[in-house]
Amino acid sequence: MKHFLGAAAVAGMLLWAGQASAATVSLFCSSSGAEYELCKQGAEAWAKSSGNEVKINKMPAAWDEALPLYQQLLSAQSADADVLLLDVVWIGLLQNHLLDLNAELPKEDIAAHFASTVAAGTVEGKFVALPWYTDTGLMFYRKDLLEKYGKPVPKTWAELTETAKAVQDGERAAGNKDMWGYVWQGKSYEGLTCDAIEWVGSFGGGTIIDEKGNITIDNAKAAEALTLAKGWVNNISPQGVLNYDEESSRGAFEAGNAVFLRNWAYVWGTSQGKDQPLVGKVGVASLPVGAQGAKSSGCMGTAHLGVSKYTKNKEAAVSLIRFMSGLDEQKRRAIAGAYNPTISALYDDAEVLKALPFLKDAQTAFAESVARPSAVTGSSYNRVSQAFYKAVHGVLAGEAEAAEALKTLAADLDKIKQRGKW
Ligand code: GLC
Repeated sequence: MKHFLGAAAVAGMLLWAGQASAATVSLFCSSSGAEYELCKQGAEAWAKSSGNEVKINKMPAAWDEALPLYQQLLSAQSADADVLLLDVVWIGLLQNHLLDLNAELPKEDIAAHFASTVAAGTVEGKFVALPWYTDTGLMFYRKDLLEKYGKPVPKTWAELTETAKAVQDGERAAGNKDMWGYVWQGKSYEGLTCDAIEWVGSFGGGTIIDEKGNITIDNAKAAEALTLAKGWVNNISPQGVLNYDEESSRGAFEAGNAVFLRNWAYVWGTSQGKDQPLVGKVGVASLPVGAQGAKSSGCMGTAHLGVSKYTKNKEAAVSLIRFMSGLDEQKRRAIAGAYNPTISALYDDAEVLKALPFLKDAQTAFAESVARPSAVTGSSYNRVSQAFYKAVHGVLAGEAEAAEALKTLAADLDKIKQRGKW
């Protein structure tokens, strides 16, 4: 009689032969773009190779809607969330609920990631968030339309505004009534904090709060940046941009209805995927600058993976994040979905560079990316960011002048910063 052993049976035998028993590890996967499928494939590949199981929870598409859910689960010390996908700005907020991975991972594993991403995952000496992919705000543009109108890729916001208007007018006259010049994230949420910190940073107006914790947002350069953005609404950007997040702005661009789009790198993956209408027509560049000599200031949006302190499956959970942020999996995600590796060796990998030709062009954007003030404000970051994006949204919606709104914002932030300490 022939014996046939399937992979699951083999894995089962290996476990039986003395390893820890099989576990079901629950994790959160994002649901933006192709992310859910990619995350699920990775987690399932780990489950198969390790003989464990995974239970996948879908995060809301807007990440900041996931944070209250995490906070609820973690403060109840729930064992239902073993592995958490972490936005770089949540690490300070959630650190007390996360396992210190220094004790769990080999030093070489940690050292393989860019030092800046390891630093972002470290709070008070504890390494609580393993880097998974790195990201920054980028400018996507219709290469074909810029060529058609003989326009160069804009280097300043003023150039972008002018080019967006010229192409929009030309295309509308040619019959594309739905064409807009520029789409971005103007909804009142964390994504607007990113867009707005980019405008402000690129005018040399700082990062809301500086590294020492001083409130710096009430300044003329910041007001100039917000006034410019306000001018886009109903001019080169639809009124509806005030309710756009990443996915809705991507939708407008990929439907062929926008010349420029501000978004994260994953849009390379979605727009250049098989059979997509814009294949070969999209370029990627770092965001324009406001003032001469200022930096392009893309918002830093690195994603990390952490393990809850309350997990009942510590070994398996650590093994899962090690697999998911390991070299092979980061390479697969880079090629399949344009998620930028945090493992430096992959930037010399020929297959990665072939799949992501924009990596070379976007290097300035990565080098000049600007961090939101989450490290310095720690557990107050959420309130700081909310105050900021609400104030910015008010300016964009025409409810207040920029200078006046920033003055009020600075006073509100001062109240959040009780007694001179965040
Ligand atoms: C992306 C970024 C994240 C940011 C969010 C805002 O997911 O990775 O850092 O907070 O967008 O919507």
